[in-house]
Amino acid sequence: MGIGLYCFSGSGHTRAIADYFAGQLNISVSPLPDKKMEEAKELAIVLFPVYSQNLPDLVRVSLPHINAKRFILIATYGRMSFGNVLQEASLLIHGKVIAAAYVPTGHTYLSEGPLFDVGRLQPLFEKIDSTQEIAIPSYQKNPFANFLPSLRNRLGVHIIQTAKCTKCGLCTQKCPISSMHDGHPDNHCIRCLRCVAICPQKALTFQLHPFMKWYLRKTKEERFLLFL
Ligand SMILES: Cc1cc2nc3c(=O)[nH]c(=O)nc-3n(C[C@H](O)[C@H](O)[C@H](O)COP(=O)(O)O)c2cc1C
Repeated sequence: MGIGLYCFSGSGHTRAIADYFAGQLNISVSPLPDKKMEEAKELAIVLFPVYSQNLPDLVRVSLPHINAKRFILIATYGRMSFGNVLQEASLLIHGKVIAAAYVPTGHTYLSEGPLFDVGRLQPLFEKIDSTQEIAIPSYQKNPFANFLPSLRNRLGVHIIQTAKCTKCGLCTQKCPISSMHDGHPDNHCIRCLRCVAICPQKALTFQLHPFMKWYLRKTKEERFLLFL
């Protein structure tokens, strides 16, 4: 029993928030489980980013594996659009959602640093003992959000290996879906850019397709939404 803290983070924004929870609650951050958890938790705090207005596939697959009675769900997003991911996540878990939040952060593809004041999440800590289930409102997502989202990202973002690569293998080891090979992504790459973020030599970089650049110029959405 007790509290479990689970996080998927590509480029580190979601992880920074998970680390804040870890510090406040004096627990450690675990990766999202890839099979059904044997031991049940009293409460699971689950953090993940929005990808193409959807749940990243590996989050979608993992959520039903989390064995907990109550959940706090936190979705980070790059201030473009968060789709309806919290409600979608709430339908995949087995347990009560007692609190949730949409948190605006820097966008992975704009190489922005942390922009969110984690102190604003304080009201969530007051809900930790709650047993009251909440209803997560439904939000409209772009009608094209489900149109080949992974392919759109693969075409929109090009990962480049530079001469600085020492073939240390860290990117292969840390890729969440095992799609980096000798510093090159394969066709399954989800463009989370963890490889770029963790490369000790800064040997990996990325280039955005002009269409992606144009899309990212959109006026940013700054809504921080708490559901308590
Ligand atoms: C593949 C991909 C798709 C994304 N799609 C969206 C999106 O639809 N809307 C949005 O606001 N931000 C989007 N973002 C930005 C991330 O949601 C945001 O930067 C998030 O904080 C990244 O978390 P991380 O650093 O923990 O991976 C996307 C980022 C990636 C890598």
